[in-house]
Parts: sequence; C-alpha cells; structure tokens
Amino acid sequence: MMLITGATGQLGRATVEFLLKKGFPADRITALVRDESKAVDLESKGIHLRFADYNDYASLVKAFEGVEKLLFVSGNDIINRSKQHDNVVKAAKGIGVKHIIYTSFERKNETETSPIAMVAKAHIETENSIKASGMDFTILRNSLYVEAIPMFLGNQVIEKGIILPVGNGMVSFTARKDIAEAIAIILLTKGHENREYILANTENVSFRTIAGILSRISGRNVTFSNPSVEAFTLALGNAGVPNDFIGFLTSFSEAIKQGEFASAKTDLEMLLGRNPLSVEEYLKQLYQHV
Ligand SMILES: NC(=O)c1ccc[n+]([C@@H]2O[C@H](COP(=O)([O-])OP(=O)(O)OC[C@H]3O[C@@H](n4cnc5c(N)ncnc54)[C@H](OP(=O)(O)O)[C@@H]3O)[C@@H](O)[C@H]2O)c1
Repeated sequence: MMLITGATGQLGRATVEFLLKKGFPADRITALVRDESKAVDLESKGIHLRFADYNDYASLVKAFEGVEKLLFVSGNDIINRSKQHDNVVKAAKGIGVKHIIYTSFERKNETETSPIAMVAKAHIETENSIKASGMDFTILRNSLYVEAIPMFLGNQVIEKGIILPVGNGMVSFTARKDIAEAIAIILLTKGHENREYILANTENVSFRTIAGILSRISGRNVTFSNPSVEAFTLALGNAGVPNDFIGFLTSFSEAIKQGEFASAKTDLEMLLGRNPLSVEEYLKQLYQHV
C-alpha cells in the first residue's frame, strides 16, 4: 500500500494529482490527513483516508498499518519538527514500511553557522535517522519553491523595485508542481531505493535578473537594490513588519547571498524528461497583467 502524508497540503495534494493523471488508481492511494474537512475532494475521488498527527506517535503507528511505500512530506512547524519527524520515522520503521521517500531541503552548509540552521536542522536529523533505520529510502533535497519569490518581492515590487540583502546570490527556484510530478514519477517507477536527488531547477537566477525579467514583463523599470541587513531590518521594522517575518527574510536572504540555493544538478530535469518551469515563465503568469 502507498501512503502520502501532507496530502491536504500543497505539495502532497499536487503529488496525488500527478499520480491520478499518470493513471494510478485512486483506490490504491491512501492519504494521511489530520483535518478531515480538508480532505473532502480526496475522498470524493476514491482515495482512502487515514488520520494521524505527526505529534501523536500512536496515531501514526495505527495509520501506517499495511503501508509498504511511504511518501513523508516534511512538516511546517519549525519549532517542533524534529520530534514530529522522529515520531514518523520510528512509527514507519516499527510497522515495517519498506520504502520511505522524504521531502527534504537543499542546503550546503550543515553547521550552526548557516543562516538557516534552524530550518535545516530537522531535515538533516530526519535524513540521518531515515538512513540509519534500515528502511529503503529516497531523499529529495528540494530547492526553494518558485512560489516563494513573491514573498521576497513584496506587494509593490513593480512600483518600488526589489530591495533585498541578497547580493548577487543565485537561486535555482523550482516550481512545486515540477517537484510534485518528479515525486509521482519516483513513486510509480523502480530503481529509486537508497538514492538522493536534488530537486532543483537547471537555471539559476539572481534577484538582479528577476528585476530585469519583471522590467521586460511590465514595461516599467524595475530596479534591484541590495541594502545592508541593518538598513533592511530598520526599514521593515519602521513599516510595521513583524519581527519574526523580518528575521525569516533576513536569514533566507543571507543564505541566498552565500549560495545555499544555487545548484548545478540536473536530477529534476532527468526525472521529468523535460526542462523544469523557468522563473520567467512563472513570473509572466503572475505579473503579465499587473
Ligand atoms: N522548498 C521550499 O521552498 C519550501 C517552502 C515551504 C515549505 N517547504 C517544506 O515543504 C513541505 C511541503 O510544502 P507545502 O508547500 O506542501 O506545505 P504545506 O502546504 O504547508 O503542507 C504541509 C503539509 O504537512 C501537513 N502537516 C503539518 N504538520 C503536520 C502534523 N503535525 N501532522 C500531520 N500533518 C502535518 C499539513 O497538514 P494540514 O493540511 O492539515 O495543514 C500539510 O498537509 C512543508 O511542510 C515544508 O516542510 C519547503
């Protein structure tokens, strides 16, 4: 039996959609759900539901009964994620899951000096415990989603330009849908046991390049500026942006500046058998009519 966690989230749901699109029968898919009201559409398609929470070990053991192949979509509760993921891995191992496919996160610096050490920590720990568990594994090191770009740009990017302390850092921004399709391919084909893939775009772009793309799309002169972290923090604070979000933006900007999300890997292109969605194509969909 194949079970998909996070199936009511964006990546898990998109993966289920690709499984169905590729002809895999709905009644051979089981979705792990913690809120039934979010799973009405999945159930109406004939997908089986099991209920569990990553915080609740016993619920996971029950939900994993009979599961051979487990797509484990990482959780989004940064503070509690290490313990939650430990519950998932232990429950899977205990119940006899044969193959666990884990959606991890691309990074280079695995030490405490990484600006995104807090985000990377649970992923690194989870990868290690999966590898030590003896289950067959596939680790997917997903790059930054292209869908995260608007969060970095803010609401008035066309008028005010891009202001971000990212230097000339390059990022292999990758569409969630492309990652989901690659995961569906991995779930449906053989030969992915005990392998790691970096699911990253084949193109790397800087935010200066993104400003150029936005200028072409909008017909306006969209500028790029690279303030100091201090000036950036002060400006956002004065504009009333919450401290947590400023911290998030500055740490990811610093990671981008340090090249944490640049990639020369072609695993995603190889799995899809085509070019991943480009940043320009994505930005056209969003900003063409602005
Ligand atoms: N590469 C990137 O740029 C990037 C960006 C953001 C996130 N991520 C990571 O990638 C994952 C998938 O991305 P996404 O866009 O699909 O995120 P998402 O839409 O937030 O989906 C996360 C899924 O995990 C489930 N989940 C969270 N905590 C859980 C718990 N305690 N027990 C059971 N299920 C739980 C959620 O359940 P509900 O549906 O009930 O909420 C949801 O289905 C994220 O969770 C995060 O780890 C990566």
